[in-house]
Amino acid sequence: MKKTISEHAARFSEAAPSYDDQKGEEYEACAGLVVRRAAPAAADTVLDLGTGTGAIALSLADDADRVVGRDISEGMLEQAREKASEAGVDNVSFDYGEFREPAYDGVAQIVTSNFALHHLSDAEKRAAIEAMASVDGGGTPSRNDTVGPRRIVLGDVMFFDGPDPAEPFFDPEVDDPATVGTLVDSFTDAGYAVTRVDRVHDQVGVLTAERVVTGGRET
Ligand SMILES: C[S@@+](CC[C@H](N)C(=O)[O-])C[C@H]1O[C@@H](n2cnc3c(N)ncnc32)[C@H](O)[C@@H]1O
Repeated sequence: MKKTISEHAARFSEAAPSYDDQKGEEYEACAGLVVRRAAPAAADTVLDLGTGTGAIALSLADDADRVVGRDISEGMLEQAREKASEAGVDNVSFDYGEFREPAYDGVAQIVTSNFALHHLSDAEKRAAIEAMASVDGGGTPSRNDTVGPRRIVLGDVMFFDGPDPAEPFFDPEVDDPATVGTLVDSFTDAGYAVTRVDRVHDQVGVLTAERVVTGGRET
């Protein structure tokens, strides 16, 4: 991580009041795909990490039973809470949580994250993906299986071809995007199969990862 957690949090809290006015075409396409790929069932709880002002969390609230948003920036969380209150959405909650310590000990069948994981180094991203996979997915363990969330959907800045300094998708001073291959390897090692890769742009994509079930019947 090129900045500390508190430096990132302060940066986003300062930007929070105008954050929703600054979104680009690729961001919108990426966010739309994260929502589409998450596809929660009506009984599912969704955990949205790096939730910011709640774009993904609020978009999924109608389809899920409950959505839990976590972020390190109190300013972003405050915007998210205001938006939920103004829209009369009462099945979402927004509280402090860091990728590797989401401060959530409930069940979540689906984990989402959009445009946030690239602030971490590759080793930290790997730890974050392991933390996502460790959330209680609400199923019953089969013989050789741990029961994490059924699906993890990650939209982010990621390199399909390599970094392009001429493009505005990341700021080398604060951002640290991974290659698609590095992210896929992290999901695989955490017990997930990346079943879909949406390439929004050379440097923006959405990975859909499904939990691999081995050695027995899932109930
Ligand atoms: C570019 S915003 C994206 C917000 C939102 N997901 C969206 O799609 O609009 C990135 C968010 O990630 C949060 N963030 C950065 N580092 C984080 C970390 N280590 N753990 C949790 N959230 C983090 C920031 O506070 C910020 O709200």
